[in-house]
Amino acid sequence: MPAASQTPLGKLLAARIRERGPITFADYMAECLYHPEHGYYSRAESQRFADYYTSVDVHPIFGRLLARQFAEMWERCGRPVEFSVVEAGAGVGRLAAHVLDFAARVLPEFYAALRYVAVEQSAARRAAHASALATHFAAGRAVSAAALPAAIPVGCIFSNELLDALPVHRLCREHGELREIYVGLNGDLLCDQVGPLSSPSLETYFSEQGIMLLEGQQAEASLAAAAWMEDAARRLGRGFILTIDYGREARELYDERHLRGTLLAYTHHRTGEDFYAAPGEQDLTAHVNFTALDLAASASGLARLGLVSQSQFLLALGRANEFADLYDPAERGQSEAERLRARLLLKTLIFPEGMGEAFSVLIHSKGVADPSLTGLAPL
Ligand SMILES: C[S@@+](CC[C@H](N)C(=O)[O-])C[C@H]1O[C@@H](n2cnc3c(N)ncnc32)[C@H](O)[C@@H]1O
Repeated sequence: MPAASQTPLGKLLAARIRERGPITFADYMAECLYHPEHGYYSRAESQRFADYYTSVDVHPIFGRLLARQFAEMWERCGRPVEFSVVEAGAGVGRLAAHVLDFAARVLPEFYAALRYVAVEQSAARRAAHASALATHFAAGRAVSAAALPAAIPVGCIFSNELLDALPVHRLCREHGELREIYVGLNGDLLCDQVGPLSSPSLETYFSEQGIMLLEGQQAEASLAAAAWMEDAARRLGRGFILTIDYGREARELYDERHLRGTLLAYTHHRTGEDFYAAPGEQDLTAHVNFTALDLAASASGLARLGLVSQSQFLLALGRANEFADLYDPAERGQSEAERLRARLLLKTLIFPEGMGEAFSVLIHSKGVADPSLTGLAPL
């Protein structure tokens, strides 16, 4: 088997570790996913469908129901003349196109107030926005950006599968002590190397959540996801932060069913635990810790509105018109077979064995007098 350090990025990282010593797993993951040249997300999306799908790829109904939720948020904020919907980690703009196309066609008053900002750090992926969102750019309703706007006076900042792709530290409890798992070298091979904590924030991260790892347990801590939430909250004047991701509350995430943590490597729709197999050429992701996000949000002046499964969120939004948004407008002449296929795809999004229960929707608000939302309504 070739040495792990044989991918171009692996060689760079091995040289760096040989010269300067082990690096934190968070630094390793940041390089694997976001290295400007070799990072998994820095390259064009061509390889992506070979590795994984997100809800966005299943059917536009996901974006259409989100558009309805954003329109209601706009109402709750008093129908301001301009309402920003800021999508963080917008990829190639596929979800943005679903939201904007639907708003333009079905929610014209909301569309007239909409300023959609598709935020994507990867230049290769951002380059696709010009064609995916051409009509909305031309209409002055959408822009593309590399980072969150400095100030968002009123609106909603949202993300779908962004936070599970942010770097995590890896930890373990050994002889009663919390220790960190670094990336070191064994000959030419990248390997785990246990050492003292790289930052006192890691101890605080767990103690604030009331979590004590079991002896021998491994776990991840995403300081980056908590920092992202604080940063987003600071930029938002008034409105909502909506987070869709694969994850759990801390008490479940760190229970005895997760003794090896939740970090996974993805290649060709297969998950693995060899995080060093192909640096930069496989996706790495860990479950989102919704409790940590909540703590960061409340420290930043946000109010938690609710955490529901994706299934519950979509059902609550779709039931009013019995999911009529599944179908294309009459003038496009969708056949009955196509309509049946749309209904089957909806099941993938909402059924527990599909994406419905694995993904959750967490919503916070800031400065909104009546923030009640249909997507969080009990079924
Ligand atoms: C797992 S992909 C999800 C893409 C898309 N939201 C979807 O559902 O298909 C995560 C995306 O977030 C982007 N990303 C990561 N960190 C970011 C950041 N700080 N700001 C903006 N985009 C970021 C990555 O480049 C990648 O395109």
